[in-house]
Amino acid sequence: MTPRLPDAVEHWPLDRLIPYARNARTHDDDQVAQIAASIVEFGWTNPILVDSEGGIVAGHGRLLAASKLGLDTVPVVVLDHLTPAQRRAYVIADNKLALNAGWDEELLAGELHALNGEGFDLGLTGFADGELDALMAPLGDEAGDADAAGEDAADEMPSASREPVTRAGDLWLIGKHRLLCGDSTESGAIARAMNGERAALVFTSPPYGNQRDYTTGGVGDWDTLMRGVFAALPVTDAAQVLVNLGLIHRENEWQPYWHVWLGWMREQGWRRFGLYVWDQGPGLPGDWNGRLAPAFELVFHFNRKARKPNKIVPCKWAGHVNDTHGGIRHKDGHVGEWTHAGQGVQETRIPDNVVRITRHKARGIETEHPAVFPVALPEFVMRAYSNERDIIYEPFAGSGTSIIAAERTGRRMRAMEIAPEYVDVALRRWRKLFPDQPVKLDGEGQSFEAVAHQRGVAIPGDD
Ligand SMILES: C[S@@+](CC[C@H](N)C(=O)[O-])C[C@H]1O[C@@H](n2cnc3c(N)ncnc32)[C@H](O)[C@@H]1O
Repeated sequence: MTPRLPDAVEHWPLDRLIPYARNARTHDDDQVAQIAASIVEFGWTNPILVDSEGGIVAGHGRLLAASKLGLDTVPVVVLDHLTPAQRRAYVIADNKLALNAGWDEELLAGELHALNGEGFDLGLTGFADGELDALMAPLGDEAGDADAAGEDAADEMPSASREPVTRAGDLWLIGKHRLLCGDSTESGAIARAMNGERAALVFTSPPYGNQRDYTTGGVGDWDTLMRGVFAALPVTDAAQVLVNLGLIHRENEWQPYWHVWLGWMREQGWRRFGLYVWDQGPGLPGDWNGRLAPAFELVFHFNRKARKPNKIVPCKWAGHVNDTHGGIRHKDGHVGEWTHAGQGVQETRIPDNVVRITRHKARGIETEHPAVFPVALPEFVMRAYSNERDIIYEPFAGSGTSIIAAERTGRRMRAMEIAPEYVDVALRRWRKLFPDQPVKLDGEGQSFEAVAHQRGVAIPGDD
């Protein structure tokens, strides 16, 4: 059957168009501004669809953008052949069918890189900075060694999740590790996760101060969240606490959103012991609103008692024996001896306070969680500031990167994550990497598969 083809595009004044009162698709101010910018850049490419009365079937956002741009008329296609039910259904279908399409991420990244090379404003593609950042992470050979360093199978992720298997309050026993789906400001939840033990190290990345929506409705008040979590840290007296935070910009300035929290930490007896830079590798291409491309985040190190970091960095001159000369030349011209004369250069040394670990490429996991560590980062911190079999506490587990790092370094993780979706991501990641190590629900000890079956939820990749 030949589908009906539109006869003509007409030009109607804006006030002839009537928005559909029951339109379920929403357009916030930012999105309308994006559509308006796109109309300015590309011209009007997509007519508004109306019924013969002027009722809008598709194109509510375009009408708002036209009004924002002060246009007198807009192009419309009149669909006078639809029944009321068809019209009502097409208001939804027009939006939903477009959403169902996918992306070939390699091709997309290639196109974005090419456009960026031509100096095109990538914001006009509709992708947000963060999305561009993930999509355009270094391609192929361009990033050289740094890119190779970012290649880690543990950073890969199985397919996207639907309804989570996990429910709030589930405590998963994962090999030697424990992961509770709960709120790390709640003492009862912490006690369940810790099972009477205390951690020697905390390494975590809280939601940054921009109140991201992590499917849980967002973080209402950052200081309150941080106080809630850090007042109740289940740690030993000698524990080291390292907290990763990134820059955020608002109203054209970077925001010292950690300021009040840092003061509060000191009042609680946590010294501002160290401040480190996580060098994430080559800055990502893109338009960063006039700033240099972001390539670092911070790690705040607190403690009550200092602990010597482990020497985990191999020394270039390991084994080389210092000769007896070459010390400081004194006023009389004679050269003193090295303090370590006759001793071989040590095998390993303590790390620098610039932690050079490349952010991994977007290979799936970022599509499931917006702020994932490369596994190498928590591994590095655990190796530097804890010993094998130590208990590590992670109050913001996200996709479970720290659990993988704990396994790989022989530490025991006690982790909390409030969003069941991310707990599932963590469990699916674990099952993929360590298929022989059981994942069991605390209580009756059912496996992840058994719980999924019992709850009637399919595990992506398993169905
Ligand atoms: C920046 S992400 C951590 C990402 C993690 N480092 C990773 O590699 O996947 C912060 C996480 O904290 C979780 N979260 C926020 N508030 C929480 C709370 N009160 N208790 C437990 N988790 C919370 C969020 O759901 C989010 O997954």
